[in-house]
Amino acid sequence: MGMATGDAGIPRDLEAAILRLKKERNAILLAHYYQEGDIQELADVVGDSLQLSRAAQKADKDVIVFCGVHFMAETAKILNPTRKVVVPDLEAGCSLADGCPAPAFKAFVAKHPGAAVVSYINCSAEVKALSDVICTSSNAEKIVRAMPQDKPVIFAPDRHLGRWVQKKTGRELVLWDGACIVHEQFSEKALVRLLTRHPEAQVLAHPECDESVLKHAHYVGSTTGIIEAAERSPAQVLIIATEDGVFHQIKKRVPNKELIQAPGQDESCACNQCPHMRRNTMEKLYLCLRDLQPELMLDEDLRKRALKPMERMLELSA
Ligand code: 13P
Ligand code: SF4
Repeated sequence: MGMATGDAGIPRDLEAAILRLKKERNAILLAHYYQEGDIQELADVVGDSLQLSRAAQKADKDVIVFCGVHFMAETAKILNPTRKVVVPDLEAGCSLADGCPAPAFKAFVAKHPGAAVVSYINCSAEVKALSDVICTSSNAEKIVRAMPQDKPVIFAPDRHLGRWVQKKTGRELVLWDGACIVHEQFSEKALVRLLTRHPEAQVLAHPECDESVLKHAHYVGSTTGIIEAAERSPAQVLIIATEDGVFHQIKKRVPNKELIQAPGQDESCACNQCPHMRRNTMEKLYLCLRDLQPELMLDEDLRKRALKPMERMLELSA
Protein backbone atom coordinates (compact mmCIF):
# COMPACT_ATOMS: atom_id res chain seq x y z
CA MET A 1 0.00 0.00 0.00
CA GLY A 2 1.38 3.49 -0.94
CA MET A 3 1.87 6.45 1.38
CA ALA A 4 -1.16 8.68 2.02
CA THR A 5 -0.48 11.94 0.22
CA GLY A 6 -2.07 15.39 0.24
CA ASP A 7 -1.59 18.35 -2.13
CA ALA A 8 1.25 18.13 -4.68
CA GLY A 9 2.16 14.63 -3.56
CA ILE A 10 3.30 15.77 -0.09
CA PRO A 11 2.80 12.85 2.33
CA ARG A 12 0.39 13.47 5.19
CA ASP A 13 2.80 11.93 7.68
CA LEU A 14 5.72 14.23 6.94
CA GLU A 15 7.69 13.17 9.98
CA ALA A 16 7.74 9.50 8.96
CA ALA A 17 8.49 10.39 5.33
CA ILE A 18 11.45 12.61 6.32
CA LEU A 19 12.90 9.93 8.60
CA ARG A 20 12.55 7.31 5.87
CA LEU A 21 14.20 9.52 3.24
CA LYS A 22 16.98 10.50 5.64
CA LYS A 23 17.91 6.83 5.87
CA GLU A 24 17.48 6.12 2.15
CA ARG A 25 19.64 9.08 1.15
CA ASN A 26 22.27 8.31 3.80
CA ALA A 27 21.86 11.87 5.07
CA ILE A 28 22.65 13.66 8.32
CA LEU A 29 20.22 16.38 9.37
CA LEU A 30 21.72 19.38 11.16
CA ALA A 31 19.37 21.99 12.65
CA HIS A 32 19.97 25.32 14.34
CA TYR A 33 18.12 26.13 17.56
CA TYR A 34 16.15 28.79 15.66
CA GLN A 35 14.33 26.21 13.54
CA GLU A 36 10.74 25.28 14.37
CA GLY A 37 10.36 22.58 17.03
CA ASP A 38 9.19 19.85 14.60
CA ILE A 39 12.39 20.21 12.57
CA GLN A 40 14.57 20.22 15.70
CA GLU A 41 12.93 16.96 16.77
CA LEU A 42 13.97 15.20 13.54
CA ALA A 43 17.56 16.43 13.52
CA ASP A 44 20.61 14.28 14.24
CA VAL A 45 22.34 17.32 15.71
CA VAL A 46 20.68 20.49 17.04
CA GLY A 47 23.05 23.21 18.08
CA ASP A 48 24.45 26.72 17.88
CA SER A 49 26.63 27.89 15.00
CA LEU A 50 29.86 26.56 16.47
CA GLN A 51 28.45 23.13 17.31
CA LEU A 52 26.89 22.83 13.87
CA SER A 53 30.17 23.79 12.16
CA ARG A 54 31.95 21.05 14.09
CA ALA A 55 29.22 18.53 13.29
CA ALA A 56 29.36 19.46 9.58
CA GLN A 57 33.14 19.11 9.52
CA LYS A 58 33.06 15.56 10.83
CA ALA A 59 29.90 14.41 9.02
CA ASP A 60 30.58 11.14 7.17
CA LYS A 61 27.19 10.62 5.46
CA ASP A 62 26.74 11.21 1.71
CA VAL A 63 24.42 14.16 2.26
CA ILE A 64 24.30 17.00 4.81
CA VAL A 65 20.80 18.50 5.09
CA PHE A 66 21.30 21.88 6.72
CA CYS A 67 18.24 23.36 8.42
CA GLY A 68 19.44 26.87 9.09
CA VAL A 69 20.26 29.89 6.97
CA HIS A 70 22.43 30.21 3.86
CA PHE A 71 25.71 31.20 5.56
CA MET A 72 25.45 28.17 7.86
CA ALA A 73 25.02 25.72 4.97
CA GLU A 74 27.82 27.48 3.12
CA THR A 75 30.04 27.02 6.16
CA ALA A 76 29.23 23.30 6.13
CA LYS A 77 30.36 23.12 2.49
CA ILE A 78 33.53 25.08 3.26
CA LEU A 79 34.42 22.57 5.96
CA ASN A 80 33.29 19.38 4.25
CA PRO A 81 33.41 19.84 0.45
CA THR A 82 33.08 16.19 -0.58
CA ARG A 83 29.57 15.92 0.88
CA LYS A 84 26.48 17.09 -0.95
CA VAL A 85 25.00 19.94 1.12
CA VAL A 86 21.28 20.59 0.60
CA VAL A 87 19.00 23.11 2.28
CA PRO A 88 15.22 23.32 2.47
CA ASP A 89 15.26 26.93 1.19
CA LEU A 90 18.31 28.45 -0.47
CA GLU A 91 16.80 31.93 -0.07
CA ALA A 92 17.03 31.77 3.74
CA GLY A 93 19.43 34.67 4.27
CA CYS A 94 20.54 36.67 7.31
CA SER A 95 20.39 40.42 7.85
CA LEU A 96 23.97 40.44 9.15
CA ALA A 97 25.41 38.56 6.17
CA ASP A 98 23.28 40.58 3.71
CA GLY A 99 24.35 43.86 5.32
CA CYS A 100 28.04 43.21 4.69
CA PRO A 101 28.70 42.90 0.94
CA ALA A 102 32.20 41.70 0.11
CA PRO A 103 33.26 44.65 -2.12
CA ALA A 104 32.31 47.21 0.56
CA PHE A 105 33.97 45.10 3.24
CA LYS A 106 37.14 44.85 1.17
CA ALA A 107 37.27 48.65 0.92
CA PHE A 108 36.66 48.92 4.70
CA VAL A 109 39.54 46.53 5.43
CA ALA A 110 41.81 48.46 3.03
CA LYS A 111 41.24 51.62 5.11
CA HIS A 112 42.87 49.92 8.10
CA PRO A 113 46.17 48.54 6.82
CA GLY A 114 47.85 46.06 9.15
CA ALA A 115 44.67 45.34 11.12
CA ALA A 116 43.72 41.79 12.15
CA VAL A 117 40.29 40.95 10.71
CA VAL A 118 37.88 38.97 12.90
CA SER A 119 34.55 38.16 11.25
CA TYR A 120 31.49 36.74 12.90
CA ILE A 121 30.41 33.51 11.18
CA ASN A 122 27.17 35.29 10.09
CA CYS A 123 28.75 36.47 6.83
CA SER A 124 29.24 35.23 3.27
CA ALA A 125 32.08 32.97 2.09
CA GLU A 126 33.51 36.04 0.26
CA VAL A 127 33.70 38.00 3.51
CA LYS A 128 35.18 34.99 5.31
CA ALA A 129 37.86 34.84 2.61
CA LEU A 130 38.78 38.48 3.41
CA SER A 131 39.18 37.67 7.13
CA ASP A 132 42.04 36.38 9.28
CA VAL A 133 39.82 34.43 11.62
CA ILE A 134 36.13 33.67 12.09
CA CYS A 135 34.27 33.61 15.41
CA THR A 136 30.81 32.69 16.64
CA SER A 137 28.85 34.15 19.53
CA SER A 138 30.21 31.40 21.80
CA ASN A 139 33.91 32.03 21.16
CA ALA A 140 34.09 35.69 20.04
CA GLU A 141 35.68 36.85 23.29
CA LYS A 142 38.31 34.10 23.21
CA ILE A 143 39.16 34.75 19.54
CA VAL A 144 39.56 38.51 20.03
CA ARG A 145 41.78 37.91 23.09
CA ALA A 146 44.01 35.73 20.89
CA MET A 147 44.68 38.57 18.41
CA PRO A 148 48.16 40.21 18.54
CA GLN A 149 48.25 43.14 20.96
CA ASP A 150 50.24 45.40 18.62
CA LYS A 151 47.65 45.41 15.83
CA PRO A 152 44.28 47.10 15.49
CA VAL A 153 41.41 44.59 15.25
CA ILE A 154 38.52 44.90 12.80
CA PHE A 155 35.33 43.18 13.97
CA ALA A 156 32.48 42.56 11.49
CA PRO A 157 29.62 42.47 10.74
CA ASP A 158 27.68 42.74 14.04
CA ARG A 159 28.34 45.97 15.92
CA HIS A 160 26.38 44.81 18.99
CA LEU A 161 28.39 41.61 19.40
CA GLY A 162 31.49 43.70 18.68
CA ARG A 163 30.62 46.19 21.43
CA TRP A 164 29.93 43.41 23.88
CA VAL A 165 33.32 41.76 23.13
CA GLN A 166 34.96 45.17 23.39
CA LYS A 167 33.50 45.59 26.86
CA LYS A 168 34.50 42.06 27.96
CA THR A 169 38.08 42.26 26.65
CA GLY A 170 38.76 45.97 27.15
CA ARG A 171 40.13 45.94 23.62
CA GLU A 172 39.26 48.73 21.18
CA LEU A 173 37.74 47.24 18.01
CA VAL A 174 37.08 48.79 14.61
CA LEU A 175 33.42 47.89 14.11
CA TRP A 176 31.49 47.26 10.90
CA ASP A 177 28.08 48.86 11.29
CA GLY A 178 25.78 45.84 10.99
CA ALA A 179 22.97 44.43 13.13
CA CYS A 180 20.50 41.57 13.31
CA ILE A 181 16.89 42.61 12.66
CA VAL A 182 15.60 40.16 15.26
CA HIS A 183 17.91 41.01 18.14
CA GLU A 184 17.98 44.74 17.51
CA GLN A 185 14.23 45.11 17.97
CA PHE A 186 14.17 44.21 21.71
CA SER A 187 13.16 47.24 23.76
CA GLU A 188 14.93 48.32 26.95
CA LYS A 189 11.94 50.37 28.05
CA ALA A 190 9.50 47.46 27.69
CA LEU A 191 12.01 45.10 29.35
CA VAL A 192 12.35 47.38 32.37
CA ARG A 193 8.54 47.55 32.64
CA LEU A 194 8.38 43.75 32.48
CA LEU A 195 11.06 43.43 35.17
CA THR A 196 9.07 45.63 37.54
CA ARG A 197 6.22 43.09 37.18
CA HIS A 198 8.65 40.15 37.66
CA PRO A 199 11.44 41.41 39.93
CA GLU A 200 12.50 37.82 40.67
CA ALA A 201 13.05 36.99 36.97
CA GLN A 202 16.43 36.52 35.33
CA VAL A 203 17.15 37.86 31.84
CA LEU A 204 19.10 35.61 29.43
CA ALA A 205 20.22 37.41 26.27
CA HIS A 206 22.10 36.82 23.04
CA PRO A 207 25.04 39.21 22.47
CA GLU A 208 23.49 40.39 19.19
CA CYS A 209 21.10 42.49 21.32
CA ASP A 210 21.70 46.20 21.80
CA GLU A 211 23.84 47.14 24.83
CA SER A 212 20.83 48.91 26.41
CA VAL A 213 19.18 45.47 26.67
CA LEU A 214 22.37 43.53 27.49
CA LYS A 215 23.00 45.70 30.55
CA HIS A 216 19.90 44.18 32.19
CA ALA A 217 20.92 40.60 31.41
CA HIS A 218 21.95 38.14 34.12
CA TYR A 219 23.54 36.00 31.41
CA VAL A 220 24.79 36.84 27.90
CA GLY A 221 25.79 34.08 25.49
CA SER A 222 25.12 31.97 22.42
CA THR A 223 21.92 29.98 21.94
CA THR A 224 23.55 26.93 23.56
CA GLY A 225 24.80 29.16 26.37
CA ILE A 226 21.30 30.55 26.95
CA ILE A 227 19.75 27.06 27.05
CA GLU A 228 22.36 25.87 29.56
CA ALA A 229 22.00 29.04 31.64
CA ALA A 230 18.23 28.42 31.78
CA GLU A 231 18.92 24.99 33.28
CA ARG A 232 21.42 26.36 35.81
CA SER A 233 19.48 29.45 36.79
CA PRO A 234 17.95 29.41 40.28
CA ALA A 235 15.17 31.72 39.01
CA GLN A 236 11.69 30.33 38.39
CA VAL A 237 10.88 33.02 35.82
CA LEU A 238 13.16 33.56 32.84
CA ILE A 239 12.99 36.36 30.28
CA ILE A 240 14.66 35.29 27.05
CA ALA A 241 16.06 37.86 24.61
CA THR A 242 16.74 35.90 21.44
CA GLU A 243 14.92 34.22 18.55
CA ASP A 244 11.98 32.18 19.79
CA GLY A 245 13.16 28.82 18.35
CA VAL A 246 15.22 28.32 21.54
CA PHE A 247 12.01 28.08 23.58
CA HIS A 248 11.48 24.57 22.21
CA GLN A 249 14.65 23.26 23.87
CA ILE A 250 14.33 25.34 27.03
CA LYS A 251 10.76 24.11 27.59
CA LYS A 252 11.95 20.52 27.21
CA ARG A 253 14.77 20.96 29.69
CA VAL A 254 13.02 23.10 32.32
CA PRO A 255 9.31 22.35 31.87
CA ASN A 256 8.38 23.83 35.22
CA LYS A 257 9.90 27.26 34.74
CA GLU A 258 7.94 30.22 33.42
CA LEU A 259 9.47 31.48 30.17
CA ILE A 260 8.74 34.96 28.88
CA GLN A 261 9.84 36.41 25.55
CA ALA A 262 11.68 39.70 25.90
CA PRO A 263 9.37 42.39 24.53
CA GLY A 264 10.08 44.11 21.25
CA GLN A 265 9.59 47.74 20.27
CA ASP A 266 6.39 46.79 18.47
CA GLU A 267 4.65 44.50 20.92
CA SER A 268 1.95 43.58 18.40
CA CYS A 269 4.32 41.72 16.05
CA ALA A 270 6.07 38.35 16.28
CA CYS A 271 9.36 40.13 15.63
CA ASN A 272 11.41 37.69 17.65
CA GLN A 273 10.94 35.10 14.91
CA CYS A 274 13.72 35.25 12.32
CA PRO A 275 11.94 35.50 8.95
CA HIS A 276 14.95 33.89 7.26
CA MET A 277 15.08 30.88 9.57
CA ARG A 278 11.31 30.48 9.24
CA ARG A 279 11.54 30.03 5.47
CA ASN A 280 12.47 26.42 6.24
CA THR A 281 9.38 24.28 6.77
CA MET A 282 8.68 20.58 7.19
CA GLU A 283 7.31 20.45 3.61
CA LYS A 284 10.45 22.01 2.16
CA LEU A 285 12.60 19.70 4.28
CA TYR A 286 10.74 16.71 2.85
CA LEU A 287 11.11 18.00 -0.72
CA CYS A 288 14.81 18.72 -0.36
CA LEU A 289 15.44 15.19 0.91
CA ARG A 290 13.29 13.74 -1.86
CA ASP A 291 14.87 15.75 -4.69
CA LEU A 292 18.32 16.37 -3.14
CA GLN A 293 18.00 20.03 -3.97
CA PRO A 294 18.40 22.96 -3.65
CA GLU A 295 22.09 22.15 -3.36
CA LEU A 296 24.65 24.55 -1.96
CA MET A 297 27.44 25.01 -4.52
CA LEU A 298 30.68 26.86 -3.89
CA ASP A 299 33.55 27.84 -6.13
CA GLU A 300 36.60 25.76 -5.08
CA ASP A 301 39.06 28.65 -5.04
CA LEU A 302 36.72 30.73 -2.85
CA ARG A 303 36.09 27.72 -0.61
CA LYS A 304 39.81 27.26 0.03
CA ARG A 305 40.25 30.93 0.89
CA ALA A 306 37.27 30.86 3.24
CA LEU A 307 38.49 27.64 4.86
CA LYS A 308 41.69 29.15 6.28
CA PRO A 309 40.03 31.57 8.75
CA MET A 310 37.47 28.88 9.65
CA GLU A 311 40.25 26.42 10.51
CA ARG A 312 41.99 29.10 12.51
CA MET A 313 38.81 29.61 14.55
CA LEU A 314 38.43 25.86 15.17
CA GLU A 315 42.07 25.62 16.32
CA LEU A 316 41.79 28.66 18.61
CA SER A 317 38.53 27.48 20.18
CA ALA A 318 39.48 23.80 20.56
P1 13P B 1 24.51 31.20 17.73
O1 13P B 1 25.99 31.43 17.74
O2 13P B 1 23.97 31.21 19.11
O3 13P B 1 24.19 29.98 16.97
O4 13P B 1 23.81 32.43 16.99
C1 13P B 1 23.52 32.38 15.62
C2 13P B 1 22.63 33.44 15.17
O5 13P B 1 22.28 33.56 14.02
C3 13P B 1 22.17 34.38 16.15
O6 13P B 1 21.21 35.19 15.60
FE1 SF4 C 1 20.69 36.35 10.97
FE2 SF4 C 1 19.44 37.49 13.01
FE3 SF4 C 1 18.26 35.53 11.70
FE4 SF4 C 1 20.38 35.01 13.27
S1 SF4 C 1 18.38 35.74 13.92
S2 SF4 C 1 20.03 34.23 11.22
S3 SF4 C 1 21.59 36.87 12.95
S4 SF4 C 1 18.79 37.56 10.88
